[in-house]
Amino acid sequence: MDVRMDTAHLQTEHGPRTQLNRRYMVLGATMGLLASTVLIVTVVFVTEGAHNDLPKVDPQSREFRGVWVATVENIDWPSNMSLSTEQQKSELVAILDRMVELNLNALVFQIRPTGDAFYDSQLEPWSYYLTGRQGAPPSPYYDPLQFAATECHKRGIQLHAWLNPYRARHKSANYTLPATNMARRFPQYAYVYDGYIWMDPGAADVQNHTYAVIIDVVRRYDVDAIHFDDYFYPYPAGGVDFPDNATFRAYQSTGGTMSKSDWRRDNVNKLIKRLYEGIHAEKPHVKFGISPFGIWKPGHPEGIEGFSQYDSLYADPKFWLEQGLVDYLAPQLYWMIDPPQQSYPALLDWWLDQNPLRRHVYTGNYLSRIFTSGWPVSELVNQVKISRERAGQMSLGNIMFSMKPFRDNISGVVDIFQSDVYGRPAIPPVMTWLDTQAPDPPTGVKAGTKEITWNRDQSGVVRAWAVYRQDQENTWGLVQVFGYNTTSVSVEAGTYMLRAVDRMGNESTDVIVKVS
Ligand SMILES: *[C@@H]1O[C@H](CO)[C@@H](O)[C@H](O)[C@H]1NC(C)=O
Ligand SMILES: *[C@@H]1O[C@H](CO)[C@@H](O)[C@H](O)[C@H]1NC(C)=O
Ligand SMILES: *[C@@H]1O[C@H](CO)[C@@H](O)[C@H](O)[C@H]1NC(C)=O
Ligand SMILES: *[C@@H]1O[C@H](CO)[C@@H](O)[C@H](O)[C@H]1NC(C)=O
Ligand SMILES: *[C@@H]1O[C@H](CO)[C@@H](O)[C@H](O)[C@H]1NC(C)=O
Ligand SMILES: *[C@@H]1O[C@H](CO)[C@@H](O)[C@H](O)[C@H]1NC(C)=O
Ligand SMILES: *[C@@H]1O[C@H](CO)[C@@H](O)[C@H](O)[C@H]1NC(C)=O
Repeated sequence: MDVRMDTAHLQTEHGPRTQLNRRYMVLGATMGLLASTVLIVTVVFVTEGAHNDLPKVDPQSREFRGVWVATVENIDWPSNMSLSTEQQKSELVAILDRMVELNLNALVFQIRPTGDAFYDSQLEPWSYYLTGRQGAPPSPYYDPLQFAATECHKRGIQLHAWLNPYRARHKSANYTLPATNMARRFPQYAYVYDGYIWMDPGAADVQNHTYAVIIDVVRRYDVDAIHFDDYFYPYPAGGVDFPDNATFRAYQSTGGTMSKSDWRRDNVNKLIKRLYEGIHAEKPHVKFGISPFGIWKPGHPEGIEGFSQYDSLYADPKFWLEQGLVDYLAPQLYWMIDPPQQSYPALLDWWLDQNPLRRHVYTGNYLSRIFTSGWPVSELVNQVKISRERAGQMSLGNIMFSMKPFRDNISGVVDIFQSDVYGRPAIPPVMTWLDTQAPDPPTGVKAGTKEITWNRDQSGVVRAWAVYRQDQENTWGLVQVFGYNTTSVSVEAGTYMLRAVDRMGNESTDVIVKVS
C-alpha cells in the first residue's frame, strides 16, 4: 500500500467477554491497611453465576485500533535512512508514545518491504531503508524488531509484523542487491516489472523462501501477528503481462490443467494456506492477518466500480475468509463515505457478508488522505464510527494508513481523534478460535490515597492490566490499559475494577477496589 499514493491504480482504488462464572476476588491485606491513615475501602464480595449483576462494560472498550508504520521509502520510520541508531530508537519510541496518547493498541510494523530485514536474519539482508545500504547492519548494532517488540509490549501494544511476500526491490530505488537478496538467490524467478523487481509467486523456490522467512520471524521474535497488505502479483502496468510464462509452462508440463489466472490465484492461496497452518503450528497465539485492496471485483456489491484484485492481483480474500485462512481481514477501504462507486459503508457491508466463519474484520482507512488529498479529519472520524456501528457483524476495529499524520499531528488530527473516537482506551478483541484460556486475576491489589497498586505478574502470561472505573451502578468504563510491567495507577476517588489481560486479549476475573 506504500506506493498507492503515486501510482495509476489510484484512480480506481486504491467480546466483550461474558463470563458466567464470575468470581469477585477476596482481597487480602485489607485489614492491615485499614489500620493505617490512608483512606481505603476494599470491597470484598463473592458472587457465582449471578448473571443479572455482571458488570456492564462499555462496548467500545473492545476494539482493534491499529496503525501501519511503513518503512519502505522511509514513509513513517525511520524518517531517513541516514539516521543514527539512537535517532532511530527515539523516533520509534516517539511513535509508540503517540500511540499511547491516542489509545491505539496495535502497531503494524513493516519489517520486510523488499526481500530485506529490519531484524537480524540469516536468510535475508538488512534493509536499504534502515541504513542506506542493503546488507549493512545498524551501527552501533541493535535489532529493530526486537526493540519494537519490547517497547510495544511494555506499553500493552500488540506488534503485528508486516512482510511483503514477493517484492524484491521498489521502483523508487535502484540500489545494487547483495548476493543474499532473494532476487539474486533465485534470479530465474526475479523479474523486472514496472520498474520493480518482483519474484514469481508460481515458483516453488520463491514460495519456500518466503515461507521460511516468515516462520523464522514467528519462531525467534515475540510478535503478536504476521501481516500482509495488498501486494500479491504486482499491480498491472502498461498493459504488460507478468512475465511468468516459463513457470506456467512448467506447471502445465507436469499435467496442470488450470487456466493461467486460476493457477496464479492458486499459487497465492497455497502460500497463504501454508502460512496460516505453519504460523499456528509454530505458535498458536500468533495471528495471521491480511489487508487486501478494498474491492474484490467490481460489481460486488452492485454499483461498485474500479479495480479487480481477483482478476489482476490474483488475490481472493473472499476465499480466504470462507476457508478460514486468515484470523483477521483488513480490507483497505481507501475511499470516502459518500461517492457511490467506492462507497465505504457499501463495501464494508459487503465484506462483512463474506465472513461465514466470523473472523475479525478491521477496516483499513486512508488517514494520509488528509494531507495528500485534503480530506477533512472528520471524514476519517466518521469512517471509524461507521466501522464501529457494525461491531455486531464482526467489524471490530480499524487500521490507519499510515502513522505519519498521527506522528506529525497533521491538521490537528491527534486532538480530534482524542476528543472524539479514541478518547478512551480499548483492548483488542479476542479471537475465540485461537484461545479459550483466561489469565489469573491481579493479586495484591490495594487501594491507597488516589492510587491503586498490585503485584507484578509472576506467570509471564499477563500482557496488560485493564483498569475500569464504575460510571454508574454496575456500568464500567475502561479508563487505562497498562503494559505488564506496571504495578500502580493514580486515580481519582471512585470504584474501580482491575483485570489482567493476556496476549490474546482475554481478561481475568475482576478485582474490585474502592478508592476514597
Ligand atoms: C534523508 O536526508 C538526506 C540528507 O538530509 C536528504 O537528502 C534525503 O532526501 C532524506 N531522505 C528522506 C527519505 O527523507
Ligand atoms: C529504476 O530502474 C527502473 C528500470 O529498471 C526504472 O523504471 C525506474 O524508474 C528506476 N528508478 C529510479 C529511482 O531510478
Ligand atoms: C519446497 O518445500 C516443500 C515442502 O517443504 C518441499 O517438498 C519442496 O521440495 C520444496 N521445493 C523446492 C523447490 O525447494
Ligand atoms: C506468454 O504466453 C501467452 C500465451 O501463450 C502469449 O500470448 C504471450 O505472448 C507470452 N508472453 C511472453 C512474454 O512470452
Ligand atoms: C495538534 O495540533 C493542534 C492544532 O494545531 C494543536 O492545537 C494541538 O496542541 C496539537 N497537539 C499535539 C499533541 O501536538
Ligand atoms: C477467556 O477465557 C475463559 C476461561 O478460560 C474462556 O471461558 C473464555 O471463552 C475466553 N474468552 C474468550 C472471549 O475467548
Ligand atoms: C520490568 O520491570 C522489571 C523490574 O523493575 C525490570 O527489571 C525490567 O527491566 C522491566 N522490563 C522492561 C521491558 O522494562
